Formats: sequence, structure tokens, C-alpha cells
Amino acid sequence: MSLMSSETFGDVKVKNRIFMAPLTRMRADNDGVPGELAAEYYTQRASAGLIITEASQISEHGKGYPATPGIYSDEQRDAWQKITDSVHAAGGVIFFAVVACGTYFARITSPQRRITRRPIRDQAQRQGLHRDMGFGRL
Ligand SMILES: Cc1cc2nc3c(=O)[nH]c(=O)nc-3n(C[C@H](O)[C@H](O)[C@H](O)COP(=O)(O)O)c2cc1C
Repeated sequence: MSLMSSETFGDVKVKNRIFMAPLTRMRADNDGVPGELAAEYYTQRASAGLIITEASQISEHGKGYPATPGIYSDEQRDAWQKITDSVHAAGGVIFFAVVACGTYFARITSPQRRITRRPIRDQAQRQGLHRDMGFGRL
């Protein structure tokens, strides 16, 4: 076995054991749609045995950071389809990572500013978790 040897996981065959970790890039548009840059970025890395995408929210209430992509609208789905098609065409394997960042961030990022459970929000506020995440003060 070597770093460059192939492996099969279930019905997925990877050509080497170099896996790309999920990395949030914050390059999606305001509607959470990943653009051409994302397609270029992931396709450039198709020689990895496996790419794991940046975390992508499953709902508008699950957003945790500005300019992160989602997978809940038709536009987002179509954009991701272009990305995965491009990676596949370059011989890559790509797994999609989903996220829901929870009630603390839903208060800030969801369009309805949905009220969250107080214990989580208050604890996060005490710890200053919103700092340096592009949201400013709560
Ligand atoms: C800028 C940045 C963005 C990241 N984004 C994600 C992400 O979207 N999803 C995730 O599961 N992990 C994310 N991570 C965690 C990385 O996957 C993790 O750092 C990587 O697996 C290496 O592990 P280590 O930091 O413990 O060495 C991110 C890390 C960094 C530094």
C-alpha cells in the first residue's frame, strides 16, 4: 500500500489516498450560489483521490458564515451540478458535505431572523463567537 495506491470504499473507487479536507471558502453569491470560481477551484484539485466540498447549508436557516453556499434552492443545485460534472470530467471524485450551523447563527443569517433558543444564543454571545465572522456586533 502506498499514498498513490487506489482503494475502494463501497461503490466508490479512489485513485490515490490523498483526500482534500472540507474548506469553507466564502465565495458564493448572496443567494448562496457557488460560481465559476468554485468550479475552477474544485476542478483544479481533481487529481486528489477524493475531494470533500466545503460545508454547504441545507436550509436558509442553517447558514453560519457570509458568502457560503447552500444546496436548498434550484439555482444552488444547478451550480453544484456544474461543479461536480466538471470535477468528474477531470477524473475526480467529490463528496458533498452539508451543514446546518444551528440556532445561534439562524438568528443572524436567516431572512426571517428566526428567534432561537436562548441558552445557546446567550452562551455564544458571552463567548463572543460572532466576532471576526463578518457579522459585527449582535
Ligand atoms: C479556512 C478553513 C475552512 C474550513 N472549512 C471547513 C468546512 O467547511 N467543513 C469542515 O468540516 N471543516 C472545515 N475546516 C476544517 C478542516 O477540514 C480541517 O482544518 C482539516 O481537516 C485539517 O484538520 P486539522 O485542522 O485538525 O489539522 C476548515 C478549516 C479551515 C482552516
